[in-house]
Amino acid sequence: MARSCKSKVCNPALWPSGSTEGVSPEIIEECKELVMTNDHLQTYMQLFRENINRGLGKATNPNAIVKCFPTYVQDLPDGTEKGKFLALDLGGSNIRVLMVDLGDPDPVHTKVYTIPKDIMQGTGEQLFDFIADCLVTFIKSQGLAEAPLPLGFTFSFPLVQKGLKVGILERWTKDFTCSGVIGNNVVEMLQTALQKHGDIKVDVSAVLNDTTGTLVAAAFKNPLARIGLIVGTGTNGCYVEKQENAELFNEPDLGSGKVIINLEWGAFGDDGALDFVRVSYDEDVDANSVNPGKQKHEKMISGMYMGELVRLALEKFTKAGLMFEGLGSDALYTRHTLESSAVSDIERDRMGDYSKVKKICDSLGLTHATLQDHTNVRYVASCITRRAAHLVSAGLVVLMERVGEKQIAVGIDGTVYKFHPHFHNLMVEKIKELVGDTYDFELLLVEDGSGIGAALVAAVTAKKR
Ligand code: BGC
Repeated sequence: MARSCKSKVCNPALWPSGSTEGVSPEIIEECKELVMTNDHLQTYMQLFRENINRGLGKATNPNAIVKCFPTYVQDLPDGTEKGKFLALDLGGSNIRVLMVDLGDPDPVHTKVYTIPKDIMQGTGEQLFDFIADCLVTFIKSQGLAEAPLPLGFTFSFPLVQKGLKVGILERWTKDFTCSGVIGNNVVEMLQTALQKHGDIKVDVSAVLNDTTGTLVAAAFKNPLARIGLIVGTGTNGCYVEKQENAELFNEPDLGSGKVIINLEWGAFGDDGALDFVRVSYDEDVDANSVNPGKQKHEKMISGMYMGELVRLALEKFTKAGLMFEGLGSDALYTRHTLESSAVSDIERDRMGDYSKVKKICDSLGLTHATLQDHTNVRYVASCITRRAAHLVSAGLVVLMERVGEKQIAVGIDGTVYKFHPHFHNLMVEKIKELVGDTYDFELLLVEDGSGIGAALVAAVTAKKR
């Protein structure tokens, strides 16, 4: 397949991540609470193990925080799948529609549609009408209206699955709040919206989470893939579990004895379990989000919140007179003015160069920032990023233990992992430190994994039929 599934390499010419060289001692001191020690991570891992056990257990699941939803995907692709499939990928602020031809050297045709904010926070009917319109426009543009193709639907929110084609929305996350969807089968809602386009027939053959899509897409390329991870707008993980351990999974074993578990790890800590590492910025971000009290782990890690965490820290340090000579700006003191993409950019300057960090300070109206301020800003951003990368790494180690295979590959997608210049390296280093020689792991970037994986699940399902 032309789309890649590869190891990321980071550029050694950049400023090293987390270096304290030249950073003001007061800023280093203030940021200490953001540093995850290995003791913190060991405690986190133990809590995560316990949370997973509670999620998997039939008796404990109703009160579990990490829900561990069985996905009904029992088989990974083996790389021999062929045929044309459609995929619909809804997860962040975009909808992507893909036509994937698994036998073709140029297999993926994609169109991306931006979801307007009023649709994300409107009614479910409006959302599904919008999705159906995008899908139908794509199908017509590809000349596929006559012969319906099987469609894999990636719906990246917590879904209680009752089958491969039945996914009941448990709750919204990220920036979505559409009314009338929670408690309903999203496949049925999509089909109802599609019926308004009487001339188009679509055969939805599976609904899945983006983590599952990413794992499945990784497995198509690498037979060692057992874990899927997203670090993008939101964060989540999935892994291959033995059916006997997935007590809520009541389906006949189709032969593998395994099932993919969608952890929904974004919710980890919603009962206060992570308060030992959460700080005032985390509380602020949470209290001012569309879902206060929910997705506390996600809010420490994912792209939707990273920029705001950095901004809050800079605001605090400026007001304390530790940065910018105590002189802030309207933009610095206004919520959500710092995008997470800027957090990646801040760390993209080469050693000795300050141009990107300066540009970001300028864009916040901090044109009076000195070289010392630029050094401090880079350090603050790196502390937030490192914390996220270290938490995700510790989470992956727990999943490696659960899978229990010495050689293992992790399929990863999402803007933070993909675009942050140090995220991959930080993860590799931390995982190595935590596992020693126990696991021989590889972290693979799976571009478009959630969409391609949906097509692959549709393909594997078609093969089984
Ligand atoms: C959702 C997950 C999803 C993750 C990454 C979270 O907010 O709850 O279902 O996998 O974001 O997109």
